[in-house]
Amino acid sequence: MADVSPSNLADPTWWRRSVVYQIYPRSFRDSDGDGTGDLTGMTRSLSYLAALGVDAVWVSPWYPSPLADGGYDVSDYCDIDPRFGSLADAALFVDEAHGLGLRVLIDLVPNHASSDHPLFQAALAAPPGSPERDLFIFRDGRGRGGDEPPTNWGSIFGGSAWERVIDAQGRPEQWYCHMFAPEQPDWNWENPAVAEMFDKVIRFWLDRGIDGLRIDVADSMVKDSSFPDTPLNEKTGFGTAGKYAGHPFWDQPGVERIHHRWRAIADSYASTPLGPRVFVSEAHMNPAERLVKYVAPGRLHTTFNFDHLWCQWTASSQRAMIQTILRVHAEVGAPPTWVIGNHDTTRVVTRYGKPETGWRFLPEGVHPEDERKFAQYFAPLPTDVALGRQRARAAALLELALPGVPYIYQGDELGLPEVEDLPVEALQDPTWERSGHTIRGRDGCRVPLPWSGDEPPYGFGPGTGQPWLPQPPTWADLSVAAQTGDPGSHLELYRSALAERHHNPALGDGSLTWDDTPGEVLSFTREPGFRCIVNFGDEPVPLPDNSWLILASGDVSAGVPRDTAVWLSL
Ligand code: GLC
Ligand code: MG
Repeated sequence: MADVSPSNLADPTWWRRSVVYQIYPRSFRDSDGDGTGDLTGMTRSLSYLAALGVDAVWVSPWYPSPLADGGYDVSDYCDIDPRFGSLADAALFVDEAHGLGLRVLIDLVPNHASSDHPLFQAALAAPPGSPERDLFIFRDGRGRGGDEPPTNWGSIFGGSAWERVIDAQGRPEQWYCHMFAPEQPDWNWENPAVAEMFDKVIRFWLDRGIDGLRIDVADSMVKDSSFPDTPLNEKTGFGTAGKYAGHPFWDQPGVERIHHRWRAIADSYASTPLGPRVFVSEAHMNPAERLVKYVAPGRLHTTFNFDHLWCQWTASSQRAMIQTILRVHAEVGAPPTWVIGNHDTTRVVTRYGKPETGWRFLPEGVHPEDERKFAQYFAPLPTDVALGRQRARAAALLELALPGVPYIYQGDELGLPEVEDLPVEALQDPTWERSGHTIRGRDGCRVPLPWSGDEPPYGFGPGTGQPWLPQPPTWADLSVAAQTGDPGSHLELYRSALAERHHNPALGDGSLTWDDTPGEVLSFTREPGFRCIVNFGDEPVPLPDNSWLILASGDVSAGVPRDTAVWLSL
């Protein structure tokens, strides 16, 4: 077992270097055989995570939810979905995680609720102009009879961002705003009661020993109160959601004030045994100079680096992305994060096995706002899974060698591919319906994990009950049990790399120096005495003299071949 670091709990700067493992609770581990992952399954698997060598976990939403958007539609912010367990189960999970030295982050979803939330139901039942309605964003429609939506805004999942209310007599009346699915009405952050409610929600969880919060769409809460249309996107027929400066629902000035307010709450826990609590921002923001405004002093602590997630697997793109991210973060004094997978994106093994490996390949004319529909353009391209896995191994060593905070999405340590051929009857992502069955959406990266055994459910749950999304019949060799002890496996590569991170003072927070290498090779040194080399070219790279091999993502007996990374001790 790799050594765990209970010292992680003693160190208030843990968030500057910790490796964070993302748990998507529905798909992690099922203890009761209902086909849905749960908290007891998570708690029982904590020893797996500690032995893997991560320092923290981030748990995607575990709140009561109708699961219209996989739990990002919250109907009670201060409870646990009964399918996942109870508040007592959550307390046990947090205690056991802390006992193993693991920090715990959870998701906070402040932009929108579930349409099942009692306050939204009360708003629907109350008349236009009522205080109940003012907690959400209700507006009269435009045109004759108010039949047109109040603005031309499009929802991120497709269609209009406005849904019309039908009253008890069946008559259409006002519209409400939902930037995501209609089952996710947006809160009205202009109303002080909303901010006060979220202050309480944050304290509720921090009082229960949660170490930090991942802020869902951290750039979206505030809308321009004049509700202007945005320039038409001809392709969607709706106003553009592209994040130009001054866009009416992205990155409005009021967002910063909300972040400062939250930061003060997190800092007020400084004298508790767990120390100050932390935030990670989920905001897709370009260019990187704009992204790091979210982690300026006094604001949030870290922010997801989506430039990494969508960067092409080429030496020039990776080098440019890393250099920019390091530079802009250094300017604000925040540690960068590194992200090659999450529950919203085609799995890295599949992405890197495509002839095009980053979002920059999007066809001519596709607006950056369609980034989210990346998978639509990506899916038809053929996948070479063996190549993708080889590159994903190299990418893992690269990620874990960089200064800052790496995120590992559950299953990426197993090298799971995207399940691109889920039967359409199984698809649950709202994107599938809202795109008129043209975009399959994000279910392919959410298929439950294989733990052991030769056939589904591969130990995901007890017995033979099948999980909520079907697992491929070909995953036996990818299970945790099958990979454990196999030195060539994806899992053992991750375990070795994470164990090295715990021992090696050069890894974690800090800086790097680029080595002088040919353009197709990335090579950097970190003090004391550590080097990472990644070869993207055909010419094998000889190992430098007077260096000792720590780890390699492939066979380096004749130098470092293409799509391979090494860690060296100098
Ligand atoms: C974030 C989540 C995604 C969710 C969306 C709306 O992007 O990662 O899963 O659909 O926010 O909450
Ligand atoms: Mg279950």
